[in-house]
Amino acid sequence: EGVAQRVSTGLLPGWDAVEEHVAAAHSRNRSAGSGEVADYIPILAEADPELFGVCVAEVDGAVHSAGDADVEFSIQSISKAFVYALVCEEFGHEVVRDRVGVNNTGLAFNSVVALELNEGHPMNPMVNAGAIATTALMPGRTADDRWAAVITGLSRFAGRPLELDDVVYRSETATNHRNRAIAGLLESYGRIDVDPLEIVDVYTRQCALLVTARDLAVMGATLADGGVNPVTGEQVVSAEVCRDTLAVMASTGLYERSGEWLFEIGLPGKSGVAGGIVTIAPGKAGIGVFSPRLDSAGNSVRGQRATAYLSRALGLNVF
Ligand code: DON
Repeated sequence: EGVAQRVSTGLLPGWDAVEEHVAAAHSRNRSAGSGEVADYIPILAEADPELFGVCVAEVDGAVHSAGDADVEFSIQSISKAFVYALVCEEFGHEVVRDRVGVNNTGLAFNSVVALELNEGHPMNPMVNAGAIATTALMPGRTADDRWAAVITGLSRFAGRPLELDDVVYRSETATNHRNRAIAGLLESYGRIDVDPLEIVDVYTRQCALLVTARDLAVMGATLADGGVNPVTGEQVVSAEVCRDTLAVMASTGLYERSGEWLFEIGLPGKSGVAGGIVTIAPGKAGIGVFSPRLDSAGNSVRGQRATAYLSRALGLNVF
C-alpha cells in the first residue's frame, strides 16, 4: 500500500536504493499482526510470532538484510522447490512433468482429495503428494542415500552446510499420519517405486532442515542466476532446470493462493509453514523472508507483505 509501482527495467536499482527498500519492507510491516503460527506440527506452535527477517541477494552476490534475517527456522515446504530442481537435473523435463505434474490442484497443500480426484496423480511437486513423489525420485539405492543427496544438494543452493533440526523432525514424525496416508495412496496407485514410510521419513527430514532468511535469499538468487550460486560461484543446477522450477513455483508455490500471489507480486515464490518464503526475480535477485504468523493457506502474512513491497518498490514484477 502506498508504494509507487516501478516498472521492471531489467535492472535492479543501485545498492543504496536496494538497502533502503529492504529496510522499509521490514519497518513498514513489522507491526502487521494478523495470522496464526502453525500448530499442526506441535513444536512450530512455540515459535516467537514476532520474529521477522527480510533479505535480498542479488545475482552479483550483494546481500541486503533487515530484522531477524539470521535467525534459523525449518525450511518446511520451501525445500520442495529445491528438491524438485535436483530431480529435474537428474531426470529432465519430460520425465518429471509426466510423473509429478505441473498443474495447481486448487486445494490445500496436504489434500488427500486432490490425489483421489486425479487417479493418484500427485499433480505438482509443491503439494505434499507431489513433493513426496519427487523425493522418491532423488538418486540413491537406500533412504540414507536419498537423504544424503537432499542435504548435499540443498546445502549447495545455500552455499553452506545445512543442518537438521532434530526437535522439529521428531515433532513432525510423531504427528505426520496424513503424509503417511498420502504416501500409501501414492504407492497404491503405482506412483512411487520405493517404500512409502521410508520416503516420508526422508521428506520429513528435508522439511526440518534449518535455514535463515539470508539462506533463502541466496538459494533463490541461485535460481535467479541460471543455477549459479552468486556467493560461492558454484553451478548447482542447469539454467533449463531453473526455468522449469520457476514455472512450477509461479503456478503452485503458494498453493490455492498462487493466483493472488502472481497477481499482486508477479514473481515465482514458495512458502513454508514455519513462516519462510523464497521469491525469485529472474536475472536479478532472490528474496528470503521469515515471519511465523500464517494466513489460512499456510503462507507467512508479514512475509507476503514484505515481498509485495519489494516487488513494487524494486520493479520486480515480471509482467
Ligand atoms: O509436510 C508438511 O505438512 C510440512 N512438513 C510442510 C508443509 C508446509 O510447509 C506447507 N506450507 N506452507
